[in-house]
Amino acid sequence: MSAAVVIVIVVAAAVVLGAIGFITAAKRSDVRGAGALSRETRHRDKDSAVDLPAAATGRQVERAAAEARSASLVKVDARPPVLWVPPDPEAIGVSRRQFFNRATIGLMGLSITTFAAASFVAFLWPVAKGGFGGKVGLGKHDEIVQSIRSSGGFFYSSEARSWITEYPADALPKAKGIYQTAIVTGMESGLVALYQKCPHLGCRVPECKSSQWFECPCHGSQYNRVGEKKAGPAPRGMDRFALSISAGGDVVVDTGTPFTGPAIGTNTTGQEAEGPHCITGGH
Ligand code: FES
Repeated sequence: MSAAVVIVIVVAAAVVLGAIGFITAAKRSDVRGAGALSRETRHRDKDSAVDLPAAATGRQVERAAAEARSASLVKVDARPPVLWVPPDPEAIGVSRRQFFNRATIGLMGLSITTFAAASFVAFLWPVAKGGFGGKVGLGKHDEIVQSIRSSGGFFYSSEARSWITEYPADALPKAKGIYQTAIVTGMESGLVALYQKCPHLGCRVPECKSSQWFECPCHGSQYNRVGEKKAGPAPRGMDRFALSISAGGDVVVDTGTPFTGPAIGTNTTGQEAEGPHCITGGH
């Protein structure tokens, strides 16, 4: 077979296929979209037209269903409402769980109330408990004096955090021009109450029985037996408390209000060291 014959056959086949495609497209152009009926179909429908009853709309169907439901409801006789009467607690009784719940809540409330009442009383009445910060009884005056003398010149009360020493009667005139009245009152009874806290930086100041002074080991401040500064870095003499004698003869120290110690240079008793110092001396 020659090339020319092949070409002729191919051209003829192409013409045939093109014709088939054109006819098919022309047929489809009769259809105007999905769901539309072709002209031929509409013709056939016209020819076989039959009078059918019109179908009910959706709204009509819904209305009919609602009417059917309302017709099926049973009417109830209207009665007056019955008033609610609370049940009798006695008749109901208390279950075990309720009992324990109420007991727990009651005990908690009682505990809190007791704690609050105790705190309130303690707040209003703090001085009545005694001890440091209030009035401290040390014992009979004569016994205190005896104890001072028998123990080498010093009596210590841990409860009052104080040293008690004797104040010489012949120094009283000088003391009255320097010390506060409450302090002088104690001195007139022959005693002075000195706060143990060093006025320098707060160390506890011990007595030195050999020198008969107070000598602070922290930085070397020294005070005579009635707490007047003799040496060291302390800014003043030892602070002190008011001391009084009760009607029964008891020595009472009021630790609620410390009195500032005397200024540097105060020396009402003229007491010098009576022996070796316990520390090497102030700096
Ligand atoms: S605390 Fe006593 S001398 Fe410093």
